[in-house]
Amino acid sequence: MATTPAPSASQRVSVDPARRDEPAPDHVPRHVAIIMDGNGRWAQQRGLPRIEGHRQGVASVRRITEHCARRGVEQLTLYCLSSENWRRPATEIGFLMQLLEQYMIEERPLLMRERISVAMIGRRDGLPAETLAAMDRTVAMCAGNNGMRLCLAINYGARGEIVAAAQKLAAEAVAGTLDPEEIDEALFSDRLDTAGMPDPDLLVRTAGEMRISNFLLWQISYAELWVTDALWPDFTEAHLDTAIASFAARERRFGGLSQS
Ligand code: IPE
Ligand code: IPE
Ligand code: MG
Repeated sequence: MATTPAPSASQRVSVDPARRDEPAPDHVPRHVAIIMDGNGRWAQQRGLPRIEGHRQGVASVRRITEHCARRGVEQLTLYCLSSENWRRPATEIGFLMQLLEQYMIEERPLLMRERISVAMIGRRDGLPAETLAAMDRTVAMCAGNNGMRLCLAINYGARGEIVAAAQKLAAEAVAGTLDPEEIDEALFSDRLDTAGMPDPDLLVRTAGEMRISNFLLWQISYAELWVTDALWPDFTEAHLDTAIASFAARERRFGGLSQS
């Protein structure tokens, strides 16, 4: 009987040795995804408005992006805004949009210095034109960078993404360009926003909630989960290193049997 080779427990990434902060990136997850949560609580604990938590959260984004790039992570996906976050007050959403626009502009020197390319997943509709323009410009500027890929999930919801993929496939079938029998997992993946990207190996959530909140439902089937009580503005490089060490110590079986 033919067997499908299991994906390797750790994927080696080629990183210029001079650029490494850490010893060997052998067990560094290829793709780290983070649900950045707890900005509001961070502000609340200090008697500050929620938006101050979001502002402080951007500093964590900056530190963690640079750290992941230097540790040899191939892709970092950050959950920035969910499709359900529109349920929040308009003032908070408006502030988040402004912050996103400012971030897209101010981040350019770091992205270029670390040779990071940028991708966006999520729905563009509903986002302000200025935010989209700043984002598109940053994506275009960084398109030639061959280091880590920074994928920003903005106005993203996994169920919506899966429904959109089903719609695309149905439209192709109706147009006669696709035989429904040809639809398999690879083809379905190829119609998601994340087409061409590896699945996350390590999924981190800050602020202690034990839930996924509509993030990458299809893609995280075999991701290793790591949750910390630390609020996102308090999340440091040391937290990430702890998460990576935990990942490295785990055995991923992908439904198979233990190797030992
Ligand atoms: C995460 O922090 C950022 C976004 C969802 C935009 P929250 O704003 O959800 O912070 P808490 O969960 O209220 O503390
Ligand atoms: C998840 O956090 C979304 C982002 C981090 C962008 P939420 O704060 O929106 O999640 P819930 O409401 O606690 O599930
Ligand atoms: Mg939250």
